[in-house]
Amino acid sequence: MPRAALVYNLLLLCVRWSRCGALLGANIVCARGLTERQRALCHAAPAAVAALGNGLSMAYAECRAQLAGRRWNCSGVGDDPRLGHVLPLATREAAFTYAITAAGVTHALSEACARGDLPACACAANRRRFSGAAEQFEYGGCGEASFGARFARRFLDARELEADARAAMNLHNNRVGRKVVKEMVRRECKCHGVSGSCAVRTCWRALPPFPAVGAALRDKLRRAKHVVAEEYDLRGLHARAVALRHPRLVVRRTGKPPRKSELVFLAKSPQYCEPDAAAAAPGTHGRHCNRTSKGEDGCDLLCCGRGYSTVTLVREAKCRCQFHWCCSVSCHSCVTRTDTHVCN
Ligand SMILES: *[C@@H]1O[C@H](CO)[C@@H](O)[C@H](O)[C@H]1NC(C)=O
Ligand SMILES: *[C@@H]1O[C@H](CO)[C@@H](O)[C@H](O)[C@H]1NC(C)=O
Repeated sequence: MPRAALVYNLLLLCVRWSRCGALLGANIVCARGLTERQRALCHAAPAAVAALGNGLSMAYAECRAQLAGRRWNCSGVGDDPRLGHVLPLATREAAFTYAITAAGVTHALSEACARGDLPACACAANRRRFSGAAEQFEYGGCGEASFGARFARRFLDARELEADARAAMNLHNNRVGRKVVKEMVRRECKCHGVSGSCAVRTCWRALPPFPAVGAALRDKLRRAKHVVAEEYDLRGLHARAVALRHPRLVVRRTGKPPRKSELVFLAKSPQYCEPDAAAAAPGTHGRHCNRTSKGEDGCDLLCCGRGYSTVTLVREAKCRCQFHWCCSVSCHSCVTRTDTHVCN
């Protein structure tokens, strides 16, 4: 995403959230002129904005990587800075994009914090914690995901202004994304000492590689729970209090609240076979499919039974090259054919 577009996106959030000034720098008042805001925001918190931008791009790229080959493959997510990752339907795919975005922001801000890039991130104070034997110490506090998670919560959750079921779903999935990163933080240690002895050990808490977070969330996408908003018992509740509270979500089949680790959705997914603007779905016409795969990237499933066309690519390249003393190289010319299959 171009930097300017990103800043614009942030500003839209800012305008809707009067408190972001406090987060990104005390002297920003977000509710006035936009272009001026862009400069002001960048001046006040360039590192946080850059980290946020990294987090969003990383999340969108990982979304595409994790869902490559599926009918809905995350294409278009993040392309329009005004929409970002907001999908119109409350499907499991929407749940996934919210969670992976929250995870990306959590990860990127925590990483920036650990690098010492963010003045607002006060993790330097408890950098060293001695534990047990004098020669062992923990070097941590920064690599943990709590700073990033806090930032992601304040920033992304602030979009959910409505007190409806969709907002409750988004908030739940945002939290799932933050939680995955936090739970995948691992303690890593390195030994120092004469010839491999572990006389001195340095330990720190390391963020997981982001593709591992993406894979964990894809797993959750598969097991996402269909939820409904619980009916309110209005007796004894002030109407205003009801309006301000997010409805409670319960799993359709069991009537119980979903786990905090589970993605939730409110609407069944469409087939994603045909282009459908209302579902932000481009359809699968023209998609490359795998003829031998029985999975979602296989031609049967991906092309929705419409069939596919095979295009043979013929490529000529140098091959079987030999080195002759001295000094020349001779090669044969080889022709390779690769079939690619494209959905009708
Ligand atoms: C995702 O889908 C879009 C549109 O249907 C297509 O152009 C793109 O190549 C697909 N990407 C991957 C990685 O399959
Ligand atoms: C197609 O699917 C098969 C079976 O799942 C797999 O072994 C192969 O690597 C896939 N080919 C491509 C080009 O992805």
